[in-house]
Amino acid sequence: MAEHHAATHHEEDPQAHATRRAVLQAAIGVSAGATLLSTLWVGAGLVPRVEKVPSREPVAVGDVLVHATGPKTNQPITLDDLRAVRNERIPFIIAFPKSPENVVKKDLVTNTIMVMLAEVERMSPETRRLASPEGVLAYSAVCKHLGCTISQWQNDLWLCPCHGGLYDVYDQARVVGGPVPKPVPQLPVKVEGGQVVVAGEFTDRPGADV
Ligand code: FES
Repeated sequence: MAEHHAATHHEEDPQAHATRRAVLQAAIGVSAGATLLSTLWVGAGLVPRVEKVPSREPVAVGDVLVHATGPKTNQPITLDDLRAVRNERIPFIIAFPKSPENVVKKDLVTNTIMVMLAEVERMSPETRRLASPEGVLAYSAVCKHLGCTISQWQNDLWLCPCHGGLYDVYDQARVVGGPVPKPVPQLPVKVEGGQVVVAGEFTDRPGADV
């Protein structure tokens, strides 16, 4: 009887053995999973976060166009401002968009915009559709050739001073001279409270065509 007792003490009960193995394997599985998770967690922490810089955000619907330079820098461009330059040597104003949160988005080159008051009757139908009823036009002012600011005016055409690119602002900035590969995109605008407000997205990607 005593012999029998000793034998059962050392014998492995197959069911108990299987259960122990299953528990052990489960424990190993949980531990491996935890290790993987913690690795992923640490890895995620190492991925550099892309911080949003408000002054580098692209122009958006609802932004107000403000003076980019001159004594009125950062102030909204008004219809009166556009009327005042209409017959000047440079009949347009270079602008940046200002967000509803009052951030002037001047640190993104492709936010450089040209605004002018033009004769509605002279505009092509598509140009007119994206202009305000008063005749306010806006285009990306970044030349499609190599990215200079298109800052001059010559014979009723918009002139890029870098290599002589010429655009027709009455006809969707159609290229009429120079090494420019394509028109700059138009920006739909409207006038609200006397200020120029962005009413839609650029018709194409702004910036040099490289
Ligand atoms: S960058 Fe404008 S014509 Fe070359």
